[in-house]
Amino acid sequence: MVLLLVAVCFTATLSTGKCQTQGTVVTTSTPPFNCSADDLGQITEHNKFRLLHEKTAPVCLLHSLVSSAQKYADTLAKLNIEDPQGTARKLPHSSTNDGENLCAMKLRSCKRNGEAWCVKMCLKIWYCAEEKHYNYSHPEPPSPITGHFTQVVWKSSDMVGCAVSHGSTKTYVVCHYSWRGNIDGKYKANVGMKTAESQSNYDLYC
Ligand SMILES: *[C@@H]1O[C@H](CO)[C@@H](O)[C@H](O)[C@H]1NC(C)=O
Ligand SMILES: *[C@@H]1O[C@H](CO)[C@@H](O)[C@H](O)[C@H]1NC(C)=O
Repeated sequence: MVLLLVAVCFTATLSTGKCQTQGTVVTTSTPPFNCSADDLGQITEHNKFRLLHEKTAPVCLLHSLVSSAQKYADTLAKLNIEDPQGTARKLPHSSTNDGENLCAMKLRSCKRNGEAWCVKMCLKIWYCAEEKHYNYSHPEPPSPITGHFTQVVWKSSDMVGCAVSHGSTKTYVVCHYSWRGNIDGKYKANVGMKTAESQSNYDLYC
């Protein structure tokens, strides 16, 4: 019985931060997400791009996604897979059922400028290099070269967790998303148009 209540509570906590049990609102001591924790700048960097798009909510940090992202970043770092084009398209995906964006940077640059800078550069590559190729009026079938962008701004992916890991010559950034994005048939509903007011910020970021 106790276990059942905990499970119900966890589900409710994801959407509201609170747990409704038999008419009593119980605030859990450690919610599984945090909307202000931003040590790597991952929330700020995602939201600055998401908010350029209409009806697109900001993301929060989901701790379990940080853990799974860290695990896979460490795996990539151990393999130190080369990604000569720097486009992340050569990196193999993990078997996660969540959304996943991958990026490889030069180790030296990430060490010199810091992990937050490294995350910021990857977000810029994912968004700025791909958004301009996205066809908003004919989003399907999806283009094979805009998947990172669409995952970043995907409306129902409102939880994210990113992690960084250093290999011998490369630094890997992994972001995991829930719910996962890039679902066939759902692009129109989940990739909002850029708003007219967002153009000046777009020019600033890209
Ligand atoms: C969320 O993150 C902030 C900033 O790191 C921290 O101060 C705060 O305690 C965290 N809140 C929870 C509920 O973990
Ligand atoms: C978008 O796709 C449609 C259909 O394939 C095409 O007619 C149109 O020219 C495309 N627009 C851009 C900006 O590429």
